[in-house]
Amino acid sequence: MDRTRRALAAGTVVVITGASSGIGRAVGLAFAHLGARLVLAARSAEALSQVARECTAAHPQAEAVAVPADVTDADAVTGLADTALARYGRVDVWVNAAGVGVLGRLDAVPPADVLRSWEVNVLGTLHGARAALRVMRGQGRGVLIDVSSVLGGAVTAPYTGAYAAAKAALVVLDEVMRQELIISGDHDVAVCTVLPAGVDTPFFQHAANHTGRRVRTLPAVATPERVARAVLHTAARPRARVVVGPGARLLPWARVLAPGLVRGLIRRLTEHRYLGAPGTVPVTTGTLYAPSGATAAVSGDRHAAARTAARRAFALAAAGAVGARFIATRSRTRVRTGSRTRVRTGSRTRVRTGSRTRGRTGSPTHVRIRPRARVGTGSPTLVRLRPRARVRIGSPTRVRMRPHIPARRLSRCR
Ligand SMILES: NC(=O)c1ccc[n+]([C@@H]2O[C@H](COP(=O)([O-])OP(=O)(O)OC[C@H]3O[C@@H](n4cnc5c(N)ncnc54)[C@H](OP(=O)(O)O)[C@@H]3O)[C@@H](O)[C@H]2O)c1
Repeated sequence: MDRTRRALAAGTVVVITGASSGIGRAVGLAFAHLGARLVLAARSAEALSQVARECTAAHPQAEAVAVPADVTDADAVTGLADTALARYGRVDVWVNAAGVGVLGRLDAVPPADVLRSWEVNVLGTLHGARAALRVMRGQGRGVLIDVSSVLGGAVTAPYTGAYAAAKAALVVLDEVMRQELIISGDHDVAVCTVLPAGVDTPFFQHAANHTGRRVRTLPAVATPERVARAVLHTAARPRARVVVGPGARLLPWARVLAPGLVRGLIRRLTEHRYLGAPGTVPVTTGTLYAPSGATAAVSGDRHAAARTAARRAFALAAAGAVGARFIATRSRTRVRTGSRTRVRTGSRTRVRTGSRTRGRTGSPTHVRIRPRARVGTGSPTLVRLRPRARVRIGSPTRVRMRPHIPARRLSRCR
């Protein structure tokens, strides 16, 4: 944090959308503690004024102005840039944190709510980016930071389709903006995407919920202050993508190394843990169409700080499971060609026995088990390994091993 503090001088001008609550609010306070001059935007005027007061009190040089604005209104967002220029003369950093969640099966969320969530999460962020880049291109420098989510591509989870699609759009839009900035020669203007995993904010209280089910705490939850530190660090040393959260940086790797395991884990966690609380709740559109108002706060109700040990253990266990699976799928297994062999595949894994190998028919040989077909099982699976070509008996030869996987097993692969 000290290096970040040195890199971000007091007086840095920062515009933040979504500043009334959660991550945006934590980012505002963190910048204020360094003596930044802030333009804070969201729809909840009262909550925003309170944040502005807290920010001003945080540091003798800190200044803050609250500008109530709906990010879906392009003119209102342009007005944020104008306010910053009029009061402070420039924009050094622009953080697009305004966003809203939508929970529900894709065929259950009304199209109007999907559209509205895309308007807030995608178009609202794009309005912010356009306003920021207009100023930053003019002054020749600046850092734009868009808050996406690990759900925007690093992983997927059921019931989050509409929201995740919006967050994935941000990843693509930012990538394109980076390319365009290089082409136009604006080398000192940076576009950064921050991708948090679960964060302990009132986000889930504010999300539209079409599942009729109560949302429960997930074990891996970061504090909004941690995300704010990552945002400050990114402002000081811009990077294209920054993943934040316990174990979250492992997720893109885990998805490559053990995609089935990650998908299955998240599916089960979402279904049985995250939405597994007993009882039902009424369907709600959350803060899609109305400001969060009284429920706006930095933290949610998930006591993230107290969960540090649990989430570290979770991250370690997940890393261990992924590592073990990686080793298992690449390990050599002794099998007898032409015979039925028990191959332990552990829980849900990809098994491919279609590789060529040197071996003697009828005798034990080494076969490399590599992914091709997925065999869903938590127990040893019967795989029939059969030579395809005729082989000379008694001497080493190349044998193509083909799996015989019972259809019953394959049907469980999806
Ligand atoms: N919490 C998580 O687990 C998590 C994980 C990954 C990414 N994120 C992302 O982080 C960002 C911040 O979320 P959060 O967790 O801090 O949730 P939050 O506490 O609900 O904050 C959302 C903020 O966005 C503002 N907002 C919503 N709709 C708006 C609109 N139409 N116009 C202007 N402001 C609007 C809200 O203010 P008003 O209601 O006052 O307008 C509020 O300040 C979001 O983009 C979210 O997608 C969150």
